[in-house]
Amino acid sequence: MEYVVTTRDLTRNFGSFTAVNKLNIRIKRGEIFGFLGPNGSGKTTTIRMLCGILAPTSGSGTVLGYDLTREAEKIKQNIGYMSQKFSLYDDLTVFENLDFYAGMYSIPYRERKKRIAEMLELSLLEGKENELVANLSGGFKQRLAMGCALISRPSILFLDEPTSGISPVSRRMFFEIIQRLANDGVTVMVTTHFMDEAERCYNIAFISEGTLIASDTPDNLKNNVIKGCLVEVDLPDALHRTGEIEKLPYVKECSVHGPLLHVLLESEKDLELFEQYTGTKAAIISPSLEDVFIHLAGKAKRQVS
Ligand SMILES: Nc1ncnc2c1ncn2[C@@H]1O[C@H](COP(=O)(O)OP(=O)(O)O)[C@@H](O)[C@H]1O
Ligand SMILES: [Mg+2]
Repeated sequence: MEYVVTTRDLTRNFGSFTAVNKLNIRIKRGEIFGFLGPNGSGKTTTIRMLCGILAPTSGSGTVLGYDLTREAEKIKQNIGYMSQKFSLYDDLTVFENLDFYAGMYSIPYRERKKRIAEMLELSLLEGKENELVANLSGGFKQRLAMGCALISRPSILFLDEPTSGISPVSRRMFFEIIQRLANDGVTVMVTTHFMDEAERCYNIAFISEGTLIASDTPDNLKNNVIKGCLVEVDLPDALHRTGEIEKLPYVKECSVHGPLLHVLLESEKDLELFEQYTGTKAAIISPSLEDVFIHLAGKAKRQVS
C-alpha cells in the first residue's frame, strides 16, 4: 500500500493552546480524503502543516515522501493548495490570473499557453478567459482558484473548505472536478461541512478539538459508529422537546433534523415505550453520515465536560 500522506502524533500548539493533538492519519495515492470537524477543531492548522507552511510543535509526518519539518520547501514545490482565503487578483482576467500562477511556479514560457488551456478546461472556465475576476460569481472564482492551485500539475491537492459560500449547483460541479482528478490519480484532501460531499470521499477523518475521533470509509462509519436503535419521529414542536426527550432513561441522544427528531434509543426494545411516551409512531432508520457526525461531536463534548 502506498501512502502519500502519513502523520505520527502530529501536534501544533499556539502558546499553551493545543490546536492539533497527536494526530495520526494516512492517505493513499489517488484517494479523496475528507477532513471533517466543527469550526475551530484544527482542520486548517493540520492542512497548513501538511503543506509545509506551518511547522509542527512535535510529532512528524511525510507528504509525497518528504519530511514535514526538514523538507518543507520540497513539499511546497510539489503540492497544490487552495486555502480557505484563497487569493485571486480581482483586477486581472481569468487568463492573467492563471498566467500569474504559472509564473510563480516557473512553468516555462513555451508551455504556459497549453497549461492554461488545460486548466480552463478542467475548471470548466472555457470562454471566460478574458473576463475580469471581479465580475465572476463565487462558484467561478472557486474553480479558478483550484485551477491556479493545479497549474503545476501536482500529484496531491489540499483544499480547505473549497465549497463554502457557493451555490449547490456550483458545489456539485466543483466536486465533479475533484472526482475527475482522483480518477486521474491525483490525491485530494478536502475539508468540508457538507455531508453530500463527505459521502463522496473514499475515507473520512473526523476531528474535534484537535483530536482524531474517527477515521474510516463513509459506509463503515454509518454501519459501525452508532450503537443502539436510531428512530425518526415527527412531533409537533419538536425543537423544544429535545431536552425532555434526552432525559428519558432509555434515550441516549436526540437531535433535530429539519422538522423531524432523530432519537437514539438504548435498544429496539425501547421503541414501544418511546412511542407510548410521545403518543406518536416512530420509524427505525439507518444512520446517515450526518447522524454519525452529530453523534461523534456530542460524544467528544461529553468526554471533555
Ligand atoms: N496562528 C494562530 N494563533 C493562535 N491560535 C490559532 C492560530 N491559528 C489557529 N488558532 C486556533 O487553533 C484552533 C484551530 O483552528 P483551525 O485550525 O483554523 O480550525 P478549523 O480550520 O477546524 O476551523 C482555533 O481555536 C484557532 O483559534
Ligand atoms: Mg479552517
